[in-house]
Amino acid sequence: MNISHASVLPEEVLHYLGVDDTEHLLLDATVGEGGHSYAFLERFPNLRVIGLDADSRILGRARERLARFGDRVELLHTWFDAYFEREPEAGRPTRILFDLGVSSFHFKASGGGFSFREDEPLDMRLNHDELEDAADLVNNLPQDELAAVIYRYGEERYSRRIAAAVVRRRAESPLRSSAELADLVYHAVPAPYRHGRIHPATRTFQALRIAVNRELERIERALAGAIDQLVPGGVIGVIAFHSLEDRIVKRMFREKSKACTCPPEMPICKCEGVPVLELITRKPVFASETEREHNPASRTARLRVARKC
Ligand SMILES: C[S@@+](CC[C@H](N)C(=O)[O-])C[C@H]1O[C@@H](n2cnc3c(N)ncnc32)[C@H](O)[C@@H]1O
Repeated sequence: MNISHASVLPEEVLHYLGVDDTEHLLLDATVGEGGHSYAFLERFPNLRVIGLDADSRILGRARERLARFGDRVELLHTWFDAYFEREPEAGRPTRILFDLGVSSFHFKASGGGFSFREDEPLDMRLNHDELEDAADLVNNLPQDELAAVIYRYGEERYSRRIAAAVVRRRAESPLRSSAELADLVYHAVPAPYRHGRIHPATRTFQALRIAVNRELERIERALAGAIDQLVPGGVIGVIAFHSLEDRIVKRMFREKSKACTCPPEMPICKCEGVPVLELITRKPVFASETEREHNPASRTARLRVARKC
């Protein structure tokens, strides 16, 4: 099997989430092609893994790759927020890992319209049980809502121009492919922006993908549930790839690591709260120079780790 995705921060993740030689359960909330899980199973012989993924195709690839570890691995096709809303049937994890976003498999080999470099149907759904895809959004959202999506989830400063160009275009015929959308964005933005550091459609594609899969809402819900499920003393690590994701992680970790949760106007503490998390990494951990050189996807990766009190 050809592996499309190189796991980011592999040594750092093993270091911060590593276990002793007693029995442990790692909940890999974003198992993808199984890269991180494989490394954990190989390094720690008493570790079991439950791996989740919203995409059943990539889960099939993880199943094949992790088959040699037999019943030490269980893989489940589910959104991670849905998983963490339920009672943990297979036991509470001692380690939880989130490696957010999509895999290189999605860009290079899924045929799902995630990449502006390919000419594929404009889909972008991770989970094909969901009905609404990226073509539905670009062809149906009112212009101001489309601009808001591109601005909010892509932090794209030309969101209004892009949304206006989409609406003009779809009045003639609906947009159907990733290449059509990439071309439209290219021509909608000012000429100097076309030759910047990143392709001018990068942010629009990121925004649509986040909106189609409701990625940010899911992270927020899942983190709270994951911290509840983790055993006391257990460790949670989250790898984010852009500031929208990282902001959610940072805020959640900060709130859960505070003792007092009284409103700021309260002169003395009435809640007698105790912190739920102890921050292990005060600042996010970034990839080394060497990793950045070899794996460009790692350049924006940042890992935050915390221990449940
Ligand atoms: C960056 S990749 C994980 C790569 C993996 N850690 C490895 O080393 O091979 C992220 C994976 O998370 C999945 N994913 C993203 N959001 C999800 C969600 N809300 N629920 C479940 N899976 C999700 C994607 O389908 C993708 O396969």
